[in-house]
Amino acid sequence: MNTRTTYDPIHQAAQQLLAGRLVAFPTETVYGLGADAENPEAVARIYTAKGRPSNHPVIVHVAPGADLSYWAKNIPDEAHALIRAFWPGPLTLILERADHIPAQVSGGQTTIGLRCPAHPVARQLLAAFSALKNGNGGVAAPSANKFGQVSPTQASHVREEFADLGEADLLVLEGGSSEVGIESTILDLSRLESVGPVLLRPGHISATDIAGVLGVMPREHADAAAPKVSGSLKAHYAPHTPLLLRSRADIDRLVGLGVDAVLSLAGLGSTPSGNQHVAILVIGPVASDLTGKSNAGFTWMSAAEDPVVYARDLYANLRRLDLGGFDCLLVQAPPEEAAWHAVQDRLKRAAAAFSS
Ligand code: TXA
Ligand code: MG
Repeated sequence: MNTRTTYDPIHQAAQQLLAGRLVAFPTETVYGLGADAENPEAVARIYTAKGRPSNHPVIVHVAPGADLSYWAKNIPDEAHALIRAFWPGPLTLILERADHIPAQVSGGQTTIGLRCPAHPVARQLLAAFSALKNGNGGVAAPSANKFGQVSPTQASHVREEFADLGEADLLVLEGGSSEVGIESTILDLSRLESVGPVLLRPGHISATDIAGVLGVMPREHADAAAPKVSGSLKAHYAPHTPLLLRSRADIDRLVGLGVDAVLSLAGLGSTPSGNQHVAILVIGPVASDLTGKSNAGFTWMSAAEDPVVYARDLYANLRRLDLGGFDCLLVQAPPEEAAWHAVQDRLKRAAAAFSS
């Protein structure tokens, strides 16, 4: 008797990947736009759909317990120690790519980025796909957004980003809101002997967390020889609406000067209608006389005081603000503290997209 009479989206998605098509899936960080990592044509579809340059490497996602030596070579003990500590979870490791893995997935580089996500839907998908590939399937997946835009943390965000693709071209798996909310920490272990571990992108797993396992702090900044990371471009993760990052004191001063002052700071002139609106996103509560209502062209909104919660909500907040019809977003710069490092990084890149 056939027991598979109910619709099984995971199985269908795994089959879709095997056929060389795209599947968007939830992870605990952000949603990914996935393709069979060993199928160069399928990987090329990711680049086309995102509008991303094809020399940018893509992370390969593997199921828990996957055989790493299938994907990478000369794997250092440090990688195994970090995997024991943090996988499945929001940590991507850059290792030397195994010779038989197609170079397309790495944008032609000799390394490979590997990550084992914790989200149950991602794990089920990766296990199902791997089973279809004799136990060694991997899913290449960047964040499921157009190149340079805000990453998606809900399935609906993915559908909005890729409204140009029909269901036959892109299957989107549902998985609720991503809990971490910002992309994985990326650690380069491919040049351990010459430079040591290098943190290429900060994330939920911090440099201190990594040092707790390795016994040394990773270098915080990618040097010239470091592999290219699109997440390390100065301008990235940007909403469509111009975004300014300012201290709380600066924000209060700007509000005193009025909407026109903010717009001219953002390089925007005022329009004849004089109907400009600026959204202000501050950390922590907003005085009750300011919340929610438009106040001389300013709309005040509050974001979480806890950096982990702030990160979880960040991209959904930016998307919501983008849809609000504002002329400019004025965002409070988080404190210069280690706990805010990853959020700080994303906000600075979002703001950099609008600075000349
Ligand atoms: O949390 C995440 O990492 C999410 C989810 C979907 O897993 N993915 C993600 O992918 O953020 P993406 O492509 O938006 O960012 C991945 C970053 C890119 O900046 C890419 O350049 C870098 O990882 N990367 C991937 N493979 C690499 C490699 N071999 N060497 C250096 N950087 C690599
Ligand atoms: Mg991305």
